[in-house]
Amino acid sequence: MKKIILSGIQPSGALTIGNYVGAVRNWAKLQTDETYCFYCVADMHAITVRQDPNELRKRSFETAALLLAAGIDPDKSTLFIQSQVPQHAQLSWVLCCNSYMGELSRMTQFKDKSATKNEENINAGLFTYPVLMAADILLYNADYVPVGVDQKQHLELCRDIAIRFNNAYGEVFKVPEPMIARVGAKIMSLQSPDKKMSKSDPNPNGFVAIMDEPDVIMKKFKRAVTDSESVIEYREDKLGVSNLLTIYATITGKSIEESVAEFQGMGYGQLKIKVAEAVIEELTPIQTAFKQYLANPDYISEVLEKGRKQASEAAQKILDKVFEKIGF
Ligand code: TYM
Repeated sequence: MKKIILSGIQPSGALTIGNYVGAVRNWAKLQTDETYCFYCVADMHAITVRQDPNELRKRSFETAALLLAAGIDPDKSTLFIQSQVPQHAQLSWVLCCNSYMGELSRMTQFKDKSATKNEENINAGLFTYPVLMAADILLYNADYVPVGVDQKQHLELCRDIAIRFNNAYGEVFKVPEPMIARVGAKIMSLQSPDKKMSKSDPNPNGFVAIMDEPDVIMKKFKRAVTDSESVIEYREDKLGVSNLLTIYATITGKSIEESVAEFQGMGYGQLKIKVAEAVIEELTPIQTAFKQYLANPDYISEVLEKGRKQASEAAQKILDKVFEKIGF
């Protein structure tokens, strides 16, 4: 029996090297003979923030192309767009009726987002978003969910909901395990290294987008905030430098210790250039492949149509069980 892997990504802005290092890079590697992977472009999650419809459609498509470019193989995995598989919304409602206001109120992402957003759009979707995410996962019997640290709490909630449902109605859901890398699961902003790197950062110097041109990547790393010392060490109080080391280590496949050793005696300027070069080297083939995929939109549409069929077939099996159990 193959282990089932599921993960998702929102098509809400330019994907960053945080998304890449924390998630997407591992997704490609998880496609092995022992696993079967489902990867979804989570456009339903994206509309918790008002989106321009044409932009959203375009970005969902481009995100799929980028996932292909990053090594998701449609012959090995199911790649699909969430909104094209209606079972996600259907299960989400059932799970909403098995989730508590209290536990959803405790989600730090909801607390953060509702605190910083303009008040008129703290919509109910923002609140129930983790339930939709639980539906995404439980619909496919996922064993493992590879994510960055910021999704850990949502994964714990998903497990709680699955266990609660199973206790009430009998075993239906597999209880999934989060899969969070030891290094790289939280890449920080280059400008405010105490904050997570985010594609919604209004300051574009804070993040490196996967599609940034090499000279832009170099410029952003050169401007990265460090500290007033001049020693290259991986330490909790050296957030900027530690973040650069983390990016370097994950991208090159070296350990943090090896990376620190490699930079001994160098200055921050050299460190920044080396990290930028490693990132450029890693991203260049992905950027080239992305452009090639986009030049062939019919192929992407075919992949997504196949993904839609495969995903909805798998999802319907679980949904049928759920509907049976709850009396529909
Ligand atoms: P999203 O779109 O915000 O991010 C996609 C993935 O990238 C990871 N990530 C990071 N990792 C390291 N450092 C960072 N700075 C960084 N920023 C983002 C995220 O942890 C995530 O793994 N709700 C999810 C998408 C989703 C999903 C799912 C995930 C929808 N359904 C089901 C897993 C399973 C989200 O908004 O991720």
